[in-house]
Amino acid sequence: MKKYWWQDAIIYQIYLRSFKDSNGDGIGDIPGVIEKLDYLKRLSVNTLWISPHYDSPMDDNGYDIRDFFKVAEDYGTMEDFKRLIEVAHANDMKIVTDLVLNHTSDEHPWFQAAKDPSHPDHARYHDYYIWHPGHVQEDGSKKRPTRWISWFGGSVWDYNEATEEYYLHIFSKKMPDLNWRNDAMRNELKAMIQWWIDLGIDGFRIDASNHLEKNWDFPDDEPGYQHFSSLPKHHDYLQELADELFMPNNLLILGEAGGASKEEALQYAGFDSNEFNMLIHFGHVWVDIDDSNTLTPGKWAKGTVKLSKIKEALSHWIDVFHEKGWNTLYWHNHDHPRVVSHYGNDDPLYHERSAKMLAALLYLLPGTPIVYQGEEIGMTNVDYQSLHDFKDVEVFTEYENFMRHGASHEIAMQALRDRARDNARAPMQWSSSDGAGFTAGTPWMPVVKNHTRINVAAQEKDPNSILAWYRMLLALRKEDAIAYSYPTFYHLDKDDRFAYAFSASHHDYYVVGNFTQEPLEFIPDVSLEAMDLWAANTDVSPGELGPYETRIYRTKK
Ligand code: NOJ
Repeated sequence: MKKYWWQDAIIYQIYLRSFKDSNGDGIGDIPGVIEKLDYLKRLSVNTLWISPHYDSPMDDNGYDIRDFFKVAEDYGTMEDFKRLIEVAHANDMKIVTDLVLNHTSDEHPWFQAAKDPSHPDHARYHDYYIWHPGHVQEDGSKKRPTRWISWFGGSVWDYNEATEEYYLHIFSKKMPDLNWRNDAMRNELKAMIQWWIDLGIDGFRIDASNHLEKNWDFPDDEPGYQHFSSLPKHHDYLQELADELFMPNNLLILGEAGGASKEEALQYAGFDSNEFNMLIHFGHVWVDIDDSNTLTPGKWAKGTVKLSKIKEALSHWIDVFHEKGWNTLYWHNHDHPRVVSHYGNDDPLYHERSAKMLAALLYLLPGTPIVYQGEEIGMTNVDYQSLHDFKDVEVFTEYENFMRHGASHEIAMQALRDRARDNARAPMQWSSSDGAGFTAGTPWMPVVKNHTRINVAAQEKDPNSILAWYRMLLALRKEDAIAYSYPTFYHLDKDDRFAYAFSASHHDYYVVGNFTQEPLEFIPDVSLEAMDLWAANTDVSPGELGPYETRIYRTKK
């Protein structure tokens, strides 16, 4: 059944800047990760995915790379990074890093040369990026090439006086897009990837992978996303990387590509295709968007969570990859709100129960789990009251948009507290101390006040904590072949409950849970005669599932 090492992986995503600060400068760093490897081992984690660690001006916290071959000073040195690989490997852990190939920082030497005609290397690097002269109007002024909107809000085009051209950036204006049609550029990126492989990296998460190709006819639509997303030719580029670098080195490749159809998903991550090994698809992440909200539209418009939609997405991806590829299991990453606030209930009364319920809903399904830092203790969304507590570049362009749409400051702030990426980026809550045990100094972004209640140190002491529950579920995946199972789902159309049953190597399992705050009648979907109650997140009573109650039954030995 097993073909590849990563089918048994338990991945933990580390957002370096906010995980653990070892030197008191308020910023998470690589020695901080090394310090916490034992903690991660106790969670059964055997693979770390680490957000960009490269030298960067940090406009987008490292997704804007200035030097691919240097470690960001904020995060440590190349020696620290080598030590991380060494210590991780000595502990049977693999290291997966982020690979940002769609764009660089505007401070990268390639762009510095590309934008400056007087630079000695201008001719060589100009075509590494995407340029357009714009449209000259009757009055002689220039107009942007298209009305395309960037993922962070605002135009994708910015003007460069020196060359009298616009350059394309589908994220921030400090992140110019690379021209993947340029062979020399691709060859330089490939040499860079090989360099990291030689250093001992076990895999990569490919950032923004479905955006590598653009529509070079530049049709003038708004917002124009279809002209820089999922165009057929980006598969050629990914296949080239897979054939030349990823497959020969037995790497784990996690690919980020939202909105993929079944066919596309298999083209990316089917066993027969192998552009990636696993797809990060986002199917279940934004199931509660209120389309009628015009003040804070799109992903910012919080609507009603429908469990049926979450289950539909989870079961869809299991089916897509069943026997044809490999599934990923994750609630969210550094770009989304915290799951216990988004899909659970972060009121202290229900916080613990709903966090455990969400873990049981997801982490006994087939595939490879990717746990996001802090999820295992039920970290919540931020409680920030001032716009300046937020740090994400996206927050500030979107706040301007909300104002333009007529939102009040209060409405905009609530949308940010509900949906901003910073919700997942606040410092990890290690203890109840002032800096949440994250730093001895001043944290680069404020710690959430509930760290006095929700933190690792407190949960280490409590055998019934969310942390203990995560440890138990993830350890179970090591004991029984849950990763390779195929579940039967019950009540797929219901929004109040979930239930699924499956067989692994040693046991049959039945998992059931109440997604709501109201008690529900409990009628088992399978015979429980040959089963024991293996775990529950509260005291159980026979005919009823209490608020957010979840139970895991399995066959006796
Ligand atoms: C996706 C990353 O997850 C996100 O954090 C980043 O801003 C964009 N790609 C641009 O690199």
